[in-house]
Amino acid sequence: MNNGTHRPIYIAIAIVLVIFFIYKAWTFHLSALDEPGRVTTFLATVAKRFYIWREARREVHSVPPASAMDASDGEMTYGMDCETCHGKDGRTPTEIGRSLYPRSPSLASERVQRWSDADLFVIIKYGIRHTGMPGFGRSEKDQQIWNLVRFVRGLRKTP
Ligand code: HEC
Repeated sequence: MNNGTHRPIYIAIAIVLVIFFIYKAWTFHLSALDEPGRVTTFLATVAKRFYIWREARREVHSVPPASAMDASDGEMTYGMDCETCHGKDGRTPTEIGRSLYPRSPSLASERVQRWSDADLFVIIKYGIRHTGMPGFGRSEKDQQIWNLVRFVRGLRKTP
């Protein structure tokens, strides 16, 4: 086989890719005001689900029973740590929360309530890199994070 005959095709593909990436880099917007695109959101969500799923299995060996999580303590901690972005009631993100990229969600939403307790625990403990969601593992003890999980879970029922 004569490899030389294919070379021009590879060079053409490489040139097209380089032009594509230069175009993408040039038209890229740093603005957090833009809505995240559909492809970006899809890829980031798939990656996020995988990493949270894996982290929860690595970190959480047993989820304490609901009775061992104190929702009213969770509510107090929520007021100090979370209100700034997710809003006073947990359902109405603040101006700041809505200006982040990606936006802070309502914690009562289907998307948030779909996470398991163990998932919520690692989300709150470690945060989500490349988003505005901070990790609270340095400032809060595990028990307080479980209390927050219970509080977030409670938002599902109340109107
Ligand atoms: C500085 C703003 C900010 C603060 C403070 C904050 N969050 Fe968030 N939170 C975010 C943002 C932004 C997202 C969206 C991340 C994403 O899209 O992946 C988020 C996502 C979440 C999610 C859902 C994860 C998902 O992607 O579905 C939960 C649960 C959550 N936060 C709980 C909390 C709790 C509990 C606290 C307080 C202990 C808190 N957050 C404090 C900004 C914040």
